[in-house]
Amino acid sequence: MNKRVFVTHQMPGERIHELSAHCDVNVWMGPGLLSATALREELEGCQGLICLLTDKVSAELVAAMPELEFVSSMSVGIDHIDCEALSARKIPLGHTPGVLVETTADTAFALMLAASRRVIEADHFIRQGNWTPENAWAPDFFTGKEVSGATLGIVGLGAIGQAMARRAAGFGMEVLAWNRSPRDVAGVESVALDELLARSDFVSVHVALAGETRKLLDAEKIGMMKSGAVLVNTARGGIVDEEALADALRAGDLYAAGIDVFESEPVQAENPLLSLPNVVVAPHIGSATMTTRARMADLAVDNALAALAGERMPHCFNPAVYL
Ligand code: GLV
Ligand code: GLV
Repeated sequence: MNKRVFVTHQMPGERIHELSAHCDVNVWMGPGLLSATALREELEGCQGLICLLTDKVSAELVAAMPELEFVSSMSVGIDHIDCEALSARKIPLGHTPGVLVETTADTAFALMLAASRRVIEADHFIRQGNWTPENAWAPDFFTGKEVSGATLGIVGLGAIGQAMARRAAGFGMEVLAWNRSPRDVAGVESVALDELLARSDFVSVHVALAGETRKLLDAEKIGMMKSGAVLVNTARGGIVDEEALADALRAGDLYAAGIDVFESEPVQAENPLLSLPNVVVAPHIGSATMTTRARMADLAVDNALAALAGERMPHCFNPAVYL
């Protein structure tokens, strides 16, 4: 009998078309996001799940799916999934590292430049009809913060952090990095997190969200940041204390922030960061190019196809399940 696989969203890429040759596929067609209740109902009797980072795969859901044999997420981050619950049953969890590295670093750099050079504020200024002869070019008109030659602190020197360092080198920046297990990367000075925060003009977050990194940048750590620094977060909202960040920005301790990820997504209108003109926001679009999203979908399908064939997933997050 064919295995049953549930896919929580229509997906781009080439490989998705191969899936139905190997299993019975059911794809959620919407409208909107799949609710937790709908996910549970749709998964009933399924051996496989291909999901997105918006789908919460809790321990309760895993417990309710006795036939579940694999989960493949079209994301590099897996904080939406209870990996321990899967590992306890030796269920492999696939994810999509590698293919979104450069794209996400591009987004982080774009936010860093936009926030420091006030690009969004300037756009609004013109569209709102404020660019008038009385309010025009002057030596201090729309002056921002210099990026070239400044010091960038990278929190988390994984693949994306290293891609960020390569970009920074092109801008003549001094690059510091903190990583839980220090890594030797040419042109990057490894430092303790507190030193990184004290010395960096720009801080960009590239760690995964896990128990040890939840609120890693809390009020105390944000308080250690250099006066007038800029924080960029394209990793996960839960790593930064949003209230503390908003307070520091409002008080002028920090110059600006570029934020692509929020503790709760979609972000609520009353989130304090949204009322600050010196915060550039984006709706979790770090990997959002058509090319990269298609590559991510292809990897998610490759992981699923391997699991269906009883083989090792090419990109398994919990490879100990194969021991
Ligand atoms: C994006 O945030 C991802 O985890 O792929
Ligand atoms: C994970 O986020 C990576 O750096 O590839």
